[in-house]
Amino acid sequence: MTRKLWGGRFSEKTNQSVEAFTSSIDFDKYLYLYDIQGSIAHCKMLARTGIISQEEGLTLVEGLGRVKSNIENGKYQFDDSLEDIHMHVETWLFQEVGKVAQKLHTARSRNDQVALDIRMYLRHEILQIIKLLIVLRQSLLELAQKHIDIVFPGYTHLQRAQPVLFSHHLMAYFEMFTRDTNRFWDGFVRTNVMPLGSAALAGTTYPIDRHYTAELLDFPEVSSNSIDSVSDRDFIMEFLSAASICMVHFSRISEEMVLWSSSEFRFIELSDTFTTGSSIMPQKKNPDVAELVRGKTGRVFGDLVAILTLMKSLPLAYNRDMQEDKEPLFDAVNTVKVCTDIYSGMLPNITVNNVVMAKATTEGFLNATDLADYLVTKGVAFREAHAVVGKAVQHALGVKKELHQLSLEELKSFSSLIAEDIFSFLTVEKMVDRRNSYGGTSKKMVMEAIETAKVRIEKELQKYRNVISKIV
Ligand code: ARG
Repeated sequence: MTRKLWGGRFSEKTNQSVEAFTSSIDFDKYLYLYDIQGSIAHCKMLARTGIISQEEGLTLVEGLGRVKSNIENGKYQFDDSLEDIHMHVETWLFQEVGKVAQKLHTARSRNDQVALDIRMYLRHEILQIIKLLIVLRQSLLELAQKHIDIVFPGYTHLQRAQPVLFSHHLMAYFEMFTRDTNRFWDGFVRTNVMPLGSAALAGTTYPIDRHYTAELLDFPEVSSNSIDSVSDRDFIMEFLSAASICMVHFSRISEEMVLWSSSEFRFIELSDTFTTGSSIMPQKKNPDVAELVRGKTGRVFGDLVAILTLMKSLPLAYNRDMQEDKEPLFDAVNTVKVCTDIYSGMLPNITVNNVVMAKATTEGFLNATDLADYLVTKGVAFREAHAVVGKAVQHALGVKKELHQLSLEELKSFSSLIAEDIFSFLTVEKMVDRRNSYGGTSKKMVMEAIETAKVRIEKELQKYRNVISKIV
């Protein structure tokens, strides 16, 4: 058994099942890089402020570098009795540089150390997610541009409602993923705050320079209350909230992918490379990717609820319960990343069945609103026009026809104001293009929306590059 770094006040060994139970190394090992970067910055600060000598500082920094490469080369074995990544790194540092390693933990506690590690991890991962979302949104834009002339039914209550451009529908998802990206940016700002130097909870007696540590680690801000710094996991909750909302959007687009690719809709065909077959039914081509993304949404909600529940009754400051924050966080990060990435691959590969889509816009009275609008152009009040068209629909249903299939005489029997020009008024293209209000589905509006979005994406890419270049 390795001697515990905190073993001084204990006269008996820890029970082995307690060691296994309290150990977090199985998952917090993924924080090793941030733990070491944080420790290096801490050592430099200790040396600069004269808390340790320059020479000791150098030895520790070099030793930490060796620990890092040894981890990466698989030279070490993780060990439950060493509890967590912080203890592992310190123990290995001792093996590398000897007794001076015992100075590393001066003016620091694992409580502020773990807070730092998670913040460094998460700010890095948020940026990865933002980049992936930018790529996904670019593929939505390309798809919208490519299919700019395709019309399909817009739905409410999953009933055909009015014809819209397929691109307009895609751009609705672009908007959702844009808000998601912005939510991740918002959370990034509050994650990017440096907690080290709060020590266990009260700050420290040593003359540390927290701003210098922050500068070394590229944090623009230092946390301002030591108790809060070691107790706060809001930034995780905020990230998981943004992640959950983002997954709602993935789940909704997935549901549409599943519906649209079914034989009932046949609006799109998913590529062979993004579908799977059935082990029993040879004819099947299943939208498993979309279904799995829809399914994984539940995991991320679970991760959010786990953290909210974990934190809700904890007294200040640090409590060991908080060790449970990592697995849900890692799970959500990995899930959002993999879903975003797979969608960027799947979307450009869908085949759009424009004939089926167009045909679907001509069945189910999608032009009823436009017939009412037509009467309004002839001076009828909208409510009255609505009632007239309701009667016409009732009649058309009876004779099993669509409104545009009724004869002029039949139409006139509902309103004498209806004239020959009604038939050109009711073409699908005209119906779409008349919806030229800002944010509407006319081709002009959608093309403008795509152009605006391109400019927006370029700006975001610049911001992303700028921020990432400033982070260790
Ligand atoms: N493994 C712990 C965690 O993840 C690190 C902090 C431990 N602090 C303590 N006082 N036991 O939260």
